[in-house]
Amino acid sequence: MKLTKKMSIFGSPGSLWKSLLSVPVVILAILLVVIMVKRLSKKKLRRQANLKEIAAWSGLYWFCKREIENAMNYGGEKICLGRGSAGQVYRGILPSGQLVAIKHLTKSNTSESFTREVEGLSRLRHPNLVCLFGCCIEGDERYLVYEFCANGNLAQHLLRRDSHLTWETRVRILRDCSYALKYLHHHIEGCVVHRDIKLTNILLNEKYQAKLSDFGLAKVMGIKESKVFTDVRGTIGYMDPEYMSNAKLTCASDVYSFGIVALQILSGQKVIELDLDARDQLTRKARDVSMGKRPLSDFEDPRLNGKVDKTDFEAILQIAVLCVAKSSKGRPTIELVFEELDKVCRDTETRMKQKKDESLSTTSTPSSKSSKSAPL
Ligand SMILES: Nc1ncnc2c1ncn2[C@@H]1O[C@H](COP(=O)(O)OP(=O)(O)OP(=O)(O)O)[C@@H](O)[C@H]1O
Ligand SMILES: [Mg+2]
Repeated sequence: MKLTKKMSIFGSPGSLWKSLLSVPVVILAILLVVIMVKRLSKKKLRRQANLKEIAAWSGLYWFCKREIENAMNYGGEKICLGRGSAGQVYRGILPSGQLVAIKHLTKSNTSESFTREVEGLSRLRHPNLVCLFGCCIEGDERYLVYEFCANGNLAQHLLRRDSHLTWETRVRILRDCSYALKYLHHHIEGCVVHRDIKLTNILLNEKYQAKLSDFGLAKVMGIKESKVFTDVRGTIGYMDPEYMSNAKLTCASDVYSFGIVALQILSGQKVIELDLDARDQLTRKARDVSMGKRPLSDFEDPRLNGKVDKTDFEAILQIAVLCVAKSSKGRPTIELVFEELDKVCRDTETRMKQKKDESLSTTSTPSSKSSKSAPL
């Protein structure tokens, strides 16, 4: 009777064994979870210590959260400069009065892009790369503090209806970006592939000098490596089709994205225009124009009002079309691109100087006469 009662509690003798066996299984599972949590937190602490180490040798300033909050709320108002996939960017003012841009990373996006940005950017210094001043880790919060670029990103200027970007400024921006890329691709520790060259990652300072930003996706290749197989990341429209199909990343992938930016600077067009037919999409139109199938004026940004040097325009178009070749083997190296753009830029500057001198000499002749005769 007792036995049947027990059996009624545990069920059949088979299920009694099952219940007895499940106890150690549950304990084992709990132990495993505890070990994994401990390992993860150890890894997290190690990564944090590693980042602090990087910050120490790189000269990055380690901000505390209070300093970040004071900088962001300086003067009582919080100014948002923009929002990206990694988080929100605010204007900040340091106690010295220096303006900075503070990126507050969203919690889901913190560790990977934060580490890449800190590890990557802290080693890179170039006049055309946005400078990382410091960072902040407190609890789950992550902040990155950059030099402030007063004129925001290139898309904000190029794509607006009343864009005031002159031909000379556009040429200089392109030359400067290729200069920054040349530095990255020939870095002493191996080629740094940016992986996210696009209009919004080209920032402009108060003098409209270009600064390449966002190293959250950057990949450093070993000195002897010319390619690396990796996850396909980037922005649709700017991504190298070869890398998209085989996940083989090379410097040429950046050259492709740079070519797209160059085509946009010439045409003022978005990468994908939903209201245009396929014939008028950026790369196809550029190829047709460069081969003489369509007139040059078909590709010229109407916002330039014809104030363009045709020879230089054609030269840049030819380079850009080569950069966006479907096969990476057909693309020029960034050094070659830089050389060509530097030439165009110098020509443009000389021409501008000549024009200025001419207009000065024509305006100064009569006025200088009158100023001589004018009583003081
Ligand atoms: N150093 C800076 N100075 C001034 N403005 C900045 C600075 N850094 C970023 N911004 C502004 O904040 C915006 C958001 O930047 P963020 O890099 O987070 O995203 P994004 O590049 O626009 O987009 P995505 O996340 O898709 O790459 C930029 O487009 C830019 O206008
Ligand atoms: Mg960006």
